Amino acid sequence: MRVLLGEHDDLGELYAPPDQPWLRVNMVATIDGAATGDDGTSRSINTGADKIVFDLLREQADAIVVGAGTVRIEGYAVGRKPLVVVSRSGSVPPTQREAEPGMVVMATVASAPYLDEARGLLGDDNVLVLGSHRADLGRLKDELVLRGFRHQLSEGGPHLLRDLLDQGVVDELDTTVVPRLVAGSHRRITDGPPLDVPLRLTTLVEQDGSLLARWFVER
Ligand SMILES: NC(=O)c1ccc[n+]([C@@H]2O[C@H](COP(=O)([O-])OP(=O)(O)OC[C@H]3O[C@@H](n4cnc5c(N)ncnc54)[C@H](OP(=O)(O)O)[C@@H]3O)[C@@H](O)[C@H]2O)c1
Repeated sequence: MRVLLGEHDDLGELYAPPDQPWLRVNMVATIDGAATGDDGTSRSINTGADKIVFDLLREQADAIVVGAGTVRIEGYAVGRKPLVVVSRSGSVPPTQREAEPGMVVMATVASAPYLDEARGLLGDDNVLVLGSHRADLGRLKDELVLRGFRHQLSEGGPHLLRDLLDQGVVDELDTTVVPRLVAGSHRRITDGPPLDVPLRLTTLVEQDGSLLARWFVER
């Protein structure tokens, strides 16, 4: 990889999270802004360079935070890092139902129709109730820090990213722009009501036309 902006040559150091509670979100898109390809997921648009950084960010995280929609659509398998599923319904995605205790945390609300089911499947300690109807994502970040998950990586999706930004919870956004155009109707990396969040570019690397950037959210 070619480092175009950044103070290190080593990718691990380039992407090292600061030594403080930190939530970053990693997303990929095409040049024309599509967050999905023809299979309806990001798998059909990502590249080798994107996969390298995707894996590195997982490696550097204490826990992964993902919207239930993404877990369902992308069929997330049980991984090596704890997975925090954010859901208004509280429905534990099918692929996460057999996970070992503690490997899946459900972040939901008191009005969730599947709250009791989630508690039964995951155990009370692994279900976080973050509000009555709206999930307080700042509280989620704090609760995860209390569990020892200081470095949190969110892998989206677009609705969750938008809400995390809206609630001022995101410290960093990591993007890969892949050298492709797909037209069609695809979602972007954010979805939902408008917002306007300024970012500061801190790192930029390139491999085979993929541009990988580390953006810090300006407060
Ligand atoms: N390009 C990329 O990097 C990237 C990354 C991730 C996903 N994607 C793609 O994005 C698509 C999915 O998009 P999406 O916007 O539907 O994904 P999403 O944000 O992961 O899923 C939406 C669902 O997540 C839950 N959720 C999201 N925000 C919430 C909040 N603030 N509070 C409570 N629950 C919340 C809700 O689950 P319930 O329905 O259970 O209540 C909601 O219906 C897929 O095609 C996926 O492949 C692309």
